[in-house]
Amino acid sequence: MAISRLVAKNLHKSFFQGDKILKVLCGINFEFEKGKSYAITGVSGSGKSTLMHLLGGLDVPTSGTVFCDGQDLFKLKSSRKERFSNRELGFIFQFHYLIKELNVLENISIMGLIRGDSKIESEKRGIILLKDIGLSDFAQSYPTQLSGGQLQRVAILRAIFNKPSFLLADEPTGDLDAINAKMVINLISRCKDEWGMGIILCSHDDAVYNRMEGILKLDDGLLKQEK
Ligand SMILES: Nc1ncnc2c1ncn2[C@@H]1O[C@H](COP(=O)(O)OP(=O)(O)O)[C@@H](O)[C@H]1O
Ligand SMILES: [Mg+2]
Repeated sequence: MAISRLVAKNLHKSFFQGDKILKVLCGINFEFEKGKSYAITGVSGSGKSTLMHLLGGLDVPTSGTVFCDGQDLFKLKSSRKERFSNRELGFIFQFHYLIKELNVLENISIMGLIRGDSKIESEKRGIILLKDIGLSDFAQSYPTQLSGGQLQRVAILRAIFNKPSFLLADEPTGDLDAINAKMVINLISRCKDEWGMGIILCSHDDAVYNRMEGILKLDDGLLKQEK
C-alpha cells in the first residue's frame, strides 16, 4: 500500500495552559500530494510542530482529521496505525534521536527489523543507502563520532529506510551550519526527485524553504498558500 495523498481536513488543535485554552490550529484544510514538496513556515510558536505531529499521527487533533487516501488516520486501529506510520510516513526532527548505543548501520537497519525483514536483508539495504550518500566509511561508527550534519543525514536514511510515501521534517536544519544544512536539504530533495516521496518540511530558514515547490504559511491558526 502506497498512499498518494495526505489531507488535513478542518484540523483544530488546542492545548490547556494552566486554566486557559490556547487555540493553536483553527481549521486547517490542505491536500498534500506524493511526489511534491511543501514547506510550512511561520513564526516560532505559530503551530508548525503541532501541525506536523498531527499529519504524522504523533498526536491527536481536538477536532477534524487527517485522511490518507480517504482513510481516516485517527480511526485506524492502533496496530494498523503503527504499521501504517512505519511504512508510509518517515519523520525527522531538529535533533536526530539516533540511538547512541547502536552504530550507524544498526541505527538505520533497525527500521527493517521493526518491519519484519531479516537482519541480513536489513543490513544489506542499510549498506546500499549509506554508500549512496557517501557515508559507508561510517557504517560501524557510533553517533558520538559523527558531525551534526552527518548525524542528520543518517536520521534521514532511517526515516526513509522503508521507502515511505511521505517524509515529514520538522526544522531538520535548525541545528546545522549553512554547509551542512545544504547537504541535508539536498538529500531531502533527492527523496522527492529520485524516490518520488512527498516532502512536508517546516522551517523558518528561507534558504531551506525556498527549495520546496509549495510554500505555506501558518498564521493565526490558519494555513495560507504563498506559492
Ligand atoms: N503539549 C503542549 N501543551 C501545551 N502547549 C503546547 C504544547 N505543544 C505546543 N504548545 C503551544 O502551542 C503553540 C505552538 O507550538 P509549536 O507547534 O511548537 O510551534 P512552532 O513549531 O511553530 O514553533 C506554542 O504556544 C506552544 O507553547
Ligand atoms: Mg517547532
